[in-house]
Amino acid sequence: MIQRASHRENFAHDMERDRSFRSILCPMNIPDFDDEAATWDDDPRKVQRAADIARRILSLCPCSSGDRVLDFGAGTGLLGTHFVEAGAEVTFVDPSAGMRAQLEAKLRARSAEGWRSLDLEDPQIAVPGGYDLIVSLMALHHVPDPGATIAQLSQWLAPGGSLALCDLEPEDGSFHDPGTTGVHHGFSPEQLRKWCEAAGLSGFRCETVHAVEHDQDDGGVRRYPLFLVVAKG
Ligand SMILES: C[S@@+](CC[C@H](N)C(=O)[O-])C[C@H]1O[C@@H](n2cnc3c(N)ncnc32)[C@H](O)[C@@H]1O
Repeated sequence: MIQRASHRENFAHDMERDRSFRSILCPMNIPDFDDEAATWDDDPRKVQRAADIARRILSLCPCSSGDRVLDFGAGTGLLGTHFVEAGAEVTFVDPSAGMRAQLEAKLRARSAEGWRSLDLEDPQIAVPGGYDLIVSLMALHHVPDPGATIAQLSQWLAPGGSLALCDLEPEDGSFHDPGTTGVHHGFSPEQLRKWCEAAGLSGFRCETVHAVEHDQDDGGVRRYPLFLVVAKG
């Protein structure tokens, strides 16, 4: 009887955890990303941005062969593939099947080794011992609850592992097309520090690393700065 009750309690607890996991990380606007996947890598500015940011992350968080790296919201893997090239074992996670298909085709065409590609709700994301490094580029502004997501990412880190998040600094809402819903309009360093500290991370640092350029109808260019946050588990 006691065992049954306890089993029910555990089950209820698991269900609760599963529900909260989904509500924390549940994807938004995925059909859009599926539609964009095939041409995502055609924009040389996106490719260059990921290369520059990977280089900066590697200078702050050196990566050794065999290190376990998670690219969260990986898309076609523009960021995480640099860590595959550095010899890491890279897990790419993205809720868009279209994005994952592009990533998988690209890495197979390169005969790359030491990687896997998972859906956002795959229980295999968590690895025993945790990840040495978790990176993410331009995904945080798409999650429903960024603070809870940082808490979840910190739980997937190995003790002493590093979290490196790159996304938009506060913007006026013009980054996405008019009428776009379900996105955050950037994040301040103060807010990011609070979320990292609440998640138990230490050694918080935040810097401006890049600016995304959007061409305007009048021929001008509008710049949207990106932050890079690094903190340790
Ligand atoms: C702007 S794209 C960035 C993709 C890639 N990191 C890059 O820099 O090229 C945002 C990515 O976040 C993914 N995404 C959307 N909602 C998400 C969520 N709740 N959790 C994780 N990733 C999500 C999308 O499928 C998409 O691939």
